[in-house]
Amino acid sequence: MGFVSVLTFAQRLVAERLQPGEPAIDGTAGGGVDTLFLARASGPRGTVYAFDVQEEALARTKERLRGQPDLARVELLARSHHEMEEAVDASHHGKVAAVMFNLGYLPGADSGIITLPETTLPALDAACRLLRPGGILTAVLYPGHAGGDVEASAVEQWAGSLNGAELEAVTYRFLNRQGPAPYLIAVGKR
Ligand SMILES: C[S@@+](CC[C@H](N)C(=O)[O-])C[C@H]1O[C@@H](n2cnc3c(N)ncnc32)[C@H](O)[C@@H]1O
Repeated sequence: MGFVSVLTFAQRLVAERLQPGEPAIDGTAGGGVDTLFLARASGPRGTVYAFDVQEEALARTKERLRGQPDLARVELLARSHHEMEEAVDASHHGKVAAVMFNLGYLPGADSGIITLPETTLPALDAACRLLRPGGILTAVLYPGHAGGDVEASAVEQWAGSLNGAELEAVTYRFLNRQGPAPYLIAVGKR
C-alpha cells in the first residue's frame, strides 16, 4: 500500500483534533474540498470560515456545499487570508481547532492568481494566534510552479523559526518523486 497524498494526510491530522462544534478555518477555499471536509467534521453546531480572493473559487465552494447534510455554518469570505483575525468572530479567537491552507493557484481558473509570501506569512502568523491549545495548522506547498518554490521556502523558513515550546512544526513529503512534488507543513499549538 502506498503512502496517502499530502492533501489526505493534512485532513487526517486535522480529523484527529477537530471536534464537533469547534470553529475551523479554510485559508484557501479554492474548489471547496477542504471547506466541505471541515464543515462535516465541525458539524451543525460548528462554524467554518472559508477565505478566497477569487469569486470563482467561492462560487465553486458554495456549489460543493449545496445540499450536503449536517454541515457547520459556513461563512464564505471574499477576503485575503491575512485578514482572518478581523473576519473571525472575537468569540472564536483562541478557540479555533484547525486552519487549513492549500497554497498555489486554483486549477482551471485564473492561474495568475497565486498565493504570495507577502500575505501567506502574515496569514500563518494570524492562524497561530487564533488556534486553541492543541489546535493545528496545515499548509500544502507547491514548489513546482513559478513563485511556488519561493513561497515554499519562505513557509519552511517561517515554520523552522517558530518557538518549539509553543508551536511544534513537522513536515510530510515524498523524497524520491520525479520533479518538485507538493508537500505538507503542519504546526501544532501546545
Ligand atoms: C490550490 S487553491 C486551493 C484549493 C482548495 N483547498 C480546494 O480544496 O480545492 C489556492 C487558492 O488560494 C486562493 N488565494 C490566493 N491568494 C489568496 C489570499 N491572499 N487569500 C485567500 N485565498 C487566496 C486562490 O484564489 C486559490 O483559489
